[in-house]
Amino acid sequence: MPRPIIIDTDPGIDDALAIMLAAASPEVEILGIVAVAGNVGIERTAPNAAALADLLGLECPVGRGAAAPLWREATYAPQVHGENGFGGYELPVSNRTLEPGVPLLARLIEESAEPVTVVAIGPLTNIAMLMVEHPKTARRIERIVIMGGGALRDQGNATPTAEFNIFVDPDAAAKVFAFGVPITMVGLNATHQALVGAQHLPDLMASGGPAARMVAHLLGSYSDDANAETAETGMAQHDSLALAAVLDPAIITTEHLFVDVENTGRRTTGMTVIDYLGRWGAPNCDVAFGVDVERFRALLNTRLTELDARLVAGAGA
Ligand code: RIB
Ligand code: CA
Repeated sequence: MPRPIIIDTDPGIDDALAIMLAAASPEVEILGIVAVAGNVGIERTAPNAAALADLLGLECPVGRGAAAPLWREATYAPQVHGENGFGGYELPVSNRTLEPGVPLLARLIEESAEPVTVVAIGPLTNIAMLMVEHPKTARRIERIVIMGGGALRDQGNATPTAEFNIFVDPDAAAKVFAFGVPITMVGLNATHQALVGAQHLPDLMASGGPAARMVAHLLGSYSDDANAETAETGMAQHDSLALAAVLDPAIITTEHLFVDVENTGRRTTGMTVIDYLGRWGAPNCDVAFGVDVERFRALLNTRLTELDARLVAGAGA
């Protein structure tokens, strides 16, 4: 029985790989994709999500979520993802009608016969708004798997202490971490181990279909400034590691810890603050520390190659 998931996303180069991986994997059923402003503005992330859904032949609804953080000015990362969010790669414009994002989140969770896993790979504004506007519905969420935050000496990329998704809307992140739904946090301390280049996806690169062509372009155009790796090691695939952890939990190793989000610190706003001493409250989060990188790379290569073959054959994902 596939696990029902909703992907909340700011596509986004690494978001695109994560959505492709989800579409390619029988372990999950994508109930919906909801866009949020982040890597680029909502006027890009929402159409990008719709265009990806078209490319992958997904029948699930796509939502247009928050255009800005709860209370702060928006922060974008075009220097990493390009002005269009896909490093300049152009997909055909979708004709889908997008639903309002937060009501779509609520509807999908309420209609699902099985508890839903939310995979949040962008700023957490939509998720926080769901918790504020539909608290009973939000409590039905089985788990929120977040690409965000950091730990140990790998805390930040937006600032030295804050990871981008959390930094963009720390107030939303603080609400989400405090809400009480189980969380898995896949932060930079894990994702910076998950380096992927074209050389790690040989079967996909040889496949040559629409997914392969897009991934080849994305991997070549992704300049994550905080972790500028050489071509030999590839680039940190933040979002697809978080998604992979849903498909195959053994890809990461976690510790159950109390995590809060700083939203007032002069130098630490956006920091995921981890209590390793167990003094601030019951653990609320499974924090990823270890990554089986070869297992992750093999999953990506295998699943995206299978996906590409289906797209070449004219079938959906
Ligand atoms: O810090 C990396 C995260 O920020 C990823 O989700 C990337 O897509 C950006 O949203
Ligand atoms: Ca993202």
